[in-house]
Amino acid sequence: MKKIVVTGGAGFIGSNLVRSLLEQREGKVIVIDNLFSGKEENLAEVRNEIGFERMDVRDLNAILPVIDGADTVYHLAAIPSVPRSIEDPVPSHDTNLNGCFNVFHAAVQGKVRRLIYAASSSAYGDTEVLPKVETMIPRPKSPYAAQKVMGEYYARCFYECYGLEAVALRFFNVYGPRQDPTSAYSGVLSLFITALIDGKNPTILGDGEQSRDFTYVKDVAGLCIKAAHAGKHVAGITYNAGNGNRHTLNKVWSLLQKIEGIELPAKYGPPRSGDVLHSQADTTLAIRDLGHDPKYSLEEGLRLTLEWYRQDRAA
Ligand code: UD1
Repeated sequence: MKKIVVTGGAGFIGSNLVRSLLEQREGKVIVIDNLFSGKEENLAEVRNEIGFERMDVRDLNAILPVIDGADTVYHLAAIPSVPRSIEDPVPSHDTNLNGCFNVFHAAVQGKVRRLIYAASSSAYGDTEVLPKVETMIPRPKSPYAAQKVMGEYYARCFYECYGLEAVALRFFNVYGPRQDPTSAYSGVLSLFITALIDGKNPTILGDGEQSRDFTYVKDVAGLCIKAAHAGKHVAGITYNAGNGNRHTLNKVWSLLQKIEGIELPAKYGPPRSGDVLHSQADTTLAIRDLGHDPKYSLEEGLRLTLEWYRQDRAA
């Protein structure tokens, strides 16, 4: 049976990916997670079907034997959040760069066939043109964005230098079940949806006309697995892993009110430092090379996410 390692597998995207890997019987799934922002309860009902190693990707000696001999490593472990990286850059640098290097290095030492690296749409910064195409020169506006771009360069150079088939996927504002809404750095849709359930007015930072390519987590998990199976020609390449659409925060909040059938005006606050104005993926390359096929419209994804938070509250 193939060994599949998911770093950050107890986190929001990682725990969704673990479920997709199990559904598709991809092999023996082993999660590496230090439970900094991930939670074991994110893996609750699949816990007996997987291996779980509580360890930190910054600890090379710890991760080496776990990664050794794996067929595929999905490297999702990171300290996410643009504002967190601006306010507290040292830990994010340490995990997102030093930890990232360790995972690439361990993958080479362990003769891993393929590594899928979670890159970020923040790489584009405020490049004028929309949608964002992979050929654009990165313009990181935050330490987080710069760290994530560096990982893409590792993906390319580890393929060139060591033959590791690394593929970088730029995630575009992923949302869905198990996204933690309780942190000051939580993704905006987890905050919007839990505000809706609680009947509280959300805060929109800026005028709400900034836009994002919100991508449902199952579409992202599906693309990760496709990238692991694609031919060798994808090695060393960075792909946009977005939905291909873009919606303003004002529009998303009014859609959520419509879905719920209530009126709850948003409060407005000052724009966030390092914030990108607009983001939208050109998915041409990912469709052509990886067979990317996002299935969830924003409305469908929001309905499913809303339902999940509601059930989670009731449990
Ligand atoms: C960025 C990346 C995304 C990455 C994520 C990691 C871009 C375009 N996207 O997301 O790919 O996965 O970092 O954390 O760079 N906002 C509010 N009210 C709130 C919270 C946020 O209005 O209570 C606003 C923010 O100012 C921002 C938008 O919502 O304009 C999205 O913010 P957030 O969910 O934090 O994600 P990004 O920073 O866009």
